[in-house]
Amino acid sequence: MSVLKVARIGHPVVRAAARELTPDEIRSPEIQRLIDDMRVTMYEYEGVGLAAPQIHESLRLAVLEVPGSDKRAEEGVPGPHGGTGVPFTVLVNPKVTPLGPETVEGWEGCLSIPDLRGLVPRFARLRLEALDREGKPYTVEAEGFHARVIQHECDHLEGNVYLDRMRDMRTLSFIKELHDYVLGGREEGEEEEHE
Ligand code: NI
Repeated sequence: MSVLKVARIGHPVVRAAARELTPDEIRSPEIQRLIDDMRVTMYEYEGVGLAAPQIHESLRLAVLEVPGSDKRAEEGVPGPHGGTGVPFTVLVNPKVTPLGPETVEGWEGCLSIPDLRGLVPRFARLRLEALDREGKPYTVEAEGFHARVIQHECDHLEGNVYLDRMRDMRTLSFIKELHDYVLGGREEGEEEEHE
């Protein structure tokens, strides 16, 4: 397995709409290896999600994992699921349906936009329909931080990044300044996400 080079904004692949994968393609050794490489790349850069366009592959494929110990999982997550981790998940050809109109704001970052964080509104609850790494369809309902990560990654497949979703560009901050002046003494990592 290898750590892949991450594409940053300005590279056209980050802004392109990605194409779907067929079940046969998903099961191919090339895509299976790509999924493994995306997993180690996400770990290497301490992300909680990674979409294929971010590693120069314009495919409707993303991975995510939120460690149970990750402080980011507590951010903006009301209710009993706060703080619960999300296991490693592969999303192929994902479709997101919001469950209700409620949105929540939370801090997001992105491996394709290094060192920055911004406040982003996202649907609080959603249904995700996707294929897994065997090409099998699955459906999950997600809320809070889990729902936020799913929306962030699925945006990448359309060529969108979190900057496009921000309501107030004046919240855009470097990580250090965010902690020094905005969050004021909160623990490192408590209010951010990095996808
Ligand atoms: Ni991202």
